[in-house]
Amino acid sequence: MKIKHLAALLGACLSIGTAFAQAKPESQIEYRKSAMTVTARSFGVLGAMAKGDIPFNKEVATRHANLLANLSDLPLSAGAFGPGTDKGAPTKADPKVFSEPEKFKAAYEKFTAATHGLPAAAGDLATLKVAVADLGKTCKGCHDDYRMK
Ligand code: HEC
Repeated sequence: MKIKHLAALLGACLSIGTAFAQAKPESQIEYRKSAMTVTARSFGVLGAMAKGDIPFNKEVATRHANLLANLSDLPLSAGAFGPGTDKGAPTKADPKVFSEPEKFKAAYEKFTAATHGLPAAAGDLATLKVAVADLGKTCKGCHDDYRMK
């Protein structure tokens, strides 16, 4: 590819990225809730395998693990929990998400760290069980503090 084209492409990507970072509060709220919904589905599949409710399947587990590892960072880095997204659409995010963003970020980073460990753990049921339990603690820990009932 010619440098000029590459530069134009990069410019286009960057402007899409910027537009998204500046997305309206309602679209940020919709995005973070959707991401949580997708997260919960994949977490549910892995949890069901870990508990023996469904048979362990390495390929399926690895796909869900990869999805979680790739998706988990995006809502935070895209600003979906950022300033100004405390209202604009129905939300259960606790006001503390916005009043103590550093603490929220720390809780969030435990979650991303746990998801990043999943792909390596998903190939074997014994390691998957441990990884799913660790991840589950990060969901619960954050919801207890930062999601309203
Ligand atoms: C760092 C904090 C944090 C972590 C970690 C976290 N969540 Fe959430 N989650 C939230 C917040 C805040 C909301 C409320 C979002 C809103 O209503 O705007 C939420 C909402 C949800 C929802 C409801 C989505 C909707 O449509 O209203 C589900 C389901 C969910 N989370 C599942 C999970 C699962 C499963 C995990 C772990 C694998 C997880 N979450 C990890 C903070 C977190």
